[in-house]
This record gives sequence, structure tokens and C-alpha cells, in this order.
Amino acid sequence: MPDKSIYPATSPAFIIDKQAIQKATDNLAYIREKSGCRILYSIKALPFVPLLKWLQPHVDGCSVSSLFEAKLARSVLNLSQSIHLTTPGIRQDEQAELSTICTHISFNSLSQKNNFHEVSTHLSKGLRINPKLSFSSDNRFDPCRLHSKLGLNIEEIQRNDFNEIEGLHLHTVFSQQDLSALIKTLDKIESYLSDFLPSLKWVNLGGGYLLQDIADLEPLITVILRLRKQYQIDVYLEPGKDIVNKAVSLVTTVIDCFDSDGKTIAVLDSSINHNPEVFEFQRTPTVLEADEKGNFSVILVGSTCLAGDIFGEYLFNQAIQIGDKISFINVGAYTMVKANRFNGYNFPDIYSVEQGELKCLKHYDYDNYRQQWDD
Ligand SMILES: Cc1ncc(COP(=O)(O)O)c(C=O)c1O
Repeated sequence: MPDKSIYPATSPAFIIDKQAIQKATDNLAYIREKSGCRILYSIKALPFVPLLKWLQPHVDGCSVSSLFEAKLARSVLNLSQSIHLTTPGIRQDEQAELSTICTHISFNSLSQKNNFHEVSTHLSKGLRINPKLSFSSDNRFDPCRLHSKLGLNIEEIQRNDFNEIEGLHLHTVFSQQDLSALIKTLDKIESYLSDFLPSLKWVNLGGGYLLQDIADLEPLITVILRLRKQYQIDVYLEPGKDIVNKAVSLVTTVIDCFDSDGKTIAVLDSSINHNPEVFEFQRTPTVLEADEKGNFSVILVGSTCLAGDIFGEYLFNQAIQIGDKISFINVGAYTMVKANRFNGYNFPDIYSVEQGELKCLKHYDYDNYRQQWDD
């Protein structure tokens, strides 16, 4: 949570709290130490290089979704650290480079596996499984939905022989705060694939769990220890959001305030384009300064021309005025990485904060914008 006394002089700005990152990695270190699993950071959540450098000593590698993510991860990791790729989008012209950069690839389909021609012999090949067990009522977040594009159907894996396959990858949940989905999914996989599992060298249990919010980690530790012992395999976890979400806030400033049909509108020097999931998934991000019991209702909106560029309606203890700071908290994952400069509004600066000290890590200016659109 940002300390209001140390807001940067200008906004909008993302502030990364290094202590919160440390807290997340301490929790992962505990899981790793107790269970013997390996930890990958899923860099799609936030591939900011300074963050990757802070995380590098605390992880066994990264999980990536593309050639660019793989190259970025490799530029920060040392050679003993792993890079696991899974994606529906492996291009023919990138196979050679991917197979030299990545250490593990989990194929998304049988066809992708059969069409992959690696140049490297060190690559360990796996399959992404669709266990056909859904835990979300929202199709958009459900890799096990009907006609899913993500992973081989568990029955397809059961029917085939895969000699050269060494691993299994699953990722079927989103922001889970308990482990029941994992336990049920593993039960199903073990009952369907009892002949296949003993031939494997590793299993990657994916991301999607908010590990810091899970009150009792013992069931996770127990299941990992059992899998390792029973099948003699390495077990990987690849969290993204768990590591970065709570560590980041977006500080904005009110630049206009007026009445619209009886409600107060406060225009911020930011927009939902700095946190596109607000619009994409109709989320209302948490505002530090708001108070559910407040008497002043305000609709916080972004600066762009989109009528729906609205963060939400919030209650405050006092009337909002031009110049007030508004900070959205818990916005580390899938925000900066999805941000855009629609309408020519700049990206927020990126700061770190550590022991009360702010440090500007990244500033974008007009030249960066011009470069994007230059011929
Ligand atoms: C294959 C895979 N692994 C890991 C993750 C990270 O998930 P999270 O950030 O929810 O932990 C994702 C997120 O979409 C994913 O698709």
C-alpha cells in the first residue's frame, strides 16, 4: 500500500513496493524449501526488467509465452535457470530460436507437437493438458471450456503413446485463493493417466493461485512431496499475479471535477488504458483514499474520448478537488503490460519504493510516442 507522504511529484505513476515483492518471494522460498518444488516467474504478468533482476536470485527460471518473452527472460537469467514455454502461437519461423533459448516446451496441441522441428537436443518436451475440469463460471477465464484452444484433451493424451514426452503442464485456474481446484484436477489426471505419469520427468502445475492469500499451504506442500516421491519427477509452479499484484499501485491526480446529471465526475490524469482489465472484464479497482462509509460519491474517469473510460463510482470522506491524489492499489499484474497510449496520453512513469525512498526507474516522453508511430 503506498505511503501517501512519498508520492512522486508528477503523475500518473506506477509504484513498485520492493518490500511487497520480497514478501512474495519469501513465501515462495518457504514453499520451495518445504516441498522441494521449483519456482518459475510467469513473466507475462509484468516483464519489467528491473523486476526480473530482483526476482532472478529467488526463482529457478521463468515461464514465457512467446519468443520475445523467452529472449527477455534469457537476458536476465543465468544458464542454469529454466525457461518454460507454452503457447498456442508457436510460429514455424521461430521454432529454431525457441528451441535454443527455452529449456522446456509444453505443446498446446498434438498438431503443434508434430510440426515442431527443434534444432537443439537439450530441449525437454511436454504437453499442456486440458483436464476438462472447469472452476470458473466465466468462460473467458476457463481454459477447460468447451472447444477450448488451450491444451490437449485429457482423453486424447490417454489414447496416445508419447515416447519423447518428458513433462506435463497444467494451468486451469484464475486468481484462486484455495487449493481445492488443484487437488481435484490432480485426482482426475492421476486416475486417467496412471500409465503415463511414471514415464515423465516433470510436471508443471501452472499459475493462477494467489499463494500469499492461501491460509494453509500444507496441502500444497504435501501434494508436491507426494508427486515428487511417487513419480520421481520435478514439480514446477509458475505464479505471476501472486508475485507482483499486491506490490504495485497506480498514483493519479484529479485534473478536472464537475457535475453530470447530479453526480460528481472526477477526471484523472490516467485512463483505463493504464489498466485495461477494468474495461475488458468490468473490474472496479480498489482506491486507497476511498471509504465505503464516506458521504461523497464520485465517479472516477479517465482522460480519453471513450465514454466508458470509467474506473468506477466511489465514496470518499470529503469532496474531491482538482489536485487530489487518487491511488489504485493491487494493480501489478496485467496492467503495465497491457497499457497503451490511446489518444496520445503517455504511459505512467514507473517508480520503486524501498524503505520510504522513491526511485524513478522509467520515464516515457514524447520521443517514445513519436518513435512508435514514425515511419
Ligand atoms: C500458462 C500460464 N502459466 C502461468 C500463468 C500465470 O498466472 P497468474 O498470473 O494468474 O499466476 C498464466 C496466466 O495466464 C498462464 O497462462
